[in-house]
Amino acid sequence: MSAPDTLADQVHAALATVSDPEIRRPITEIGMVKGVQTHPDGSVDVAIYLTIAACPLKDRLTADVTSAVARIPGVTAVRVELDVMSQEQRQALQSQLRGGTPVKEIPFAKPGSLTRVYAVASGKGGVGKSTVTVNLAAALARRGLSVGVVDADIYGFSIPRMLGVTGSPTQVEQMIMPPQAHGIRVISIGMFTKGNTAVVWRGPMLHRALQQFLADVFWGDLDVLLMDLPPGTGDIAISVAQLVPSAEILVVTTPQQAAAEVAERAGSIALQTHQQIVGVVENMSWLAQPDGSRLELFGSGGGGQVAASLSQLTGAPVPLLGQVPIDVRLRESGDNGRPLVLDDPSAPAAAALLAVADGLAARQRGLAGRSLSLTPVSSGG
Ligand SMILES: Nc1ncnc2c1ncn2[C@@H]1O[C@H](COP(=O)(O)OP(=O)(O)O)[C@@H](O)[C@H]1O
Ligand SMILES: [Mg+2]
Repeated sequence: MSAPDTLADQVHAALATVSDPEIRRPITEIGMVKGVQTHPDGSVDVAIYLTIAACPLKDRLTADVTSAVARIPGVTAVRVELDVMSQEQRQALQSQLRGGTPVKEIPFAKPGSLTRVYAVASGKGGVGKSTVTVNLAAALARRGLSVGVVDADIYGFSIPRMLGVTGSPTQVEQMIMPPQAHGIRVISIGMFTKGNTAVVWRGPMLHRALQQFLADVFWGDLDVLLMDLPPGTGDIAISVAQLVPSAEILVVTTPQQAAAEVAERAGSIALQTHQQIVGVVENMSWLAQPDGSRLELFGSGGGGQVAASLSQLTGAPVPLLGQVPIDVRLRESGDNGRPLVLDDPSAPAAAALLAVADGLAARQRGLAGRSLSLTPVSSGG
């Protein structure tokens, strides 16, 4: 039998229950506890290392440490002193968090990665890619999955607003801690530009930005990573395929025939990049009328058409995953940063998106999630 725990042991045990709010690991495991001193009068001094001096969450950390230690019977007072890690300590932490993998490696591109990566693509802008992305992310996080979102729409970023992320990323050495909203880890170029400054970048810089989002951000162990792509078949779509070949493409289209044709083109780049297409979501499918009928504002059939032609083109079944009706609340929820699937899951538009998320969550990791060597077909121009 071991001797009864000393107060110092109890303090260490209490500190092990406190996690860094950003890194989300116990502070005792990541070298953040500098020292503990107990005094005969029951007071305890705890010295904590912050990763950086400007740590935005240091008040929360101080409060968490104080309350964890104060709960120990016999403790009369807790004093928390904050210090800042040295560069060596930050580097040690960085390599620990990376699990010893060298800097600049994209964890999702490694052969053993268990993270499913979905690239949300469309032919045209304004069809609801970002809306679908944030609602699927929120729905999957609500199911208890660990979810990340990369806003890969560098010029037209909208994810921070749609998820209500106001925080900015913290940097620990070469590593970026992504802000979180609704339990989702999020990164967007919008977090690095002041206000609404337009981003004017050329192709190679876009690739570099995307690579940083994937390699330099501390994502932790994600079950699902959703990437909101810009519309069309441009540089970013190619970069995603190069950086994360196992990313599967989720095509969003409206029911309109013209939109469906360009969506088909966007989906068909999967053939050239050897990526899988997970399926098609038709958005803005109809507007429910007071009498219960459906007004097909943008026509009908686009989603089914895209799914059918992509199935034919790729030789693999590409399902129509869902049809999302037009709902003013879906637009409002994007404007105020609260995904509708969380606020009103029974709204028909939310229910349709939840069903798509359920389908994705049920998919098993395995060969289906890997890039298969499809024979590229020459594109019809
Ligand atoms: N089903 C829908 N019902 C109502 N408004 C929608 C719906 N889907 C998207 N919107 C709105 O349409 C606009 C464009 O959607 P967005 O997701 O930004 O498209 P994209 O990312 O493809 O450009 C946004 O204002 C969004 O709130
Ligand atoms: Mg968008």
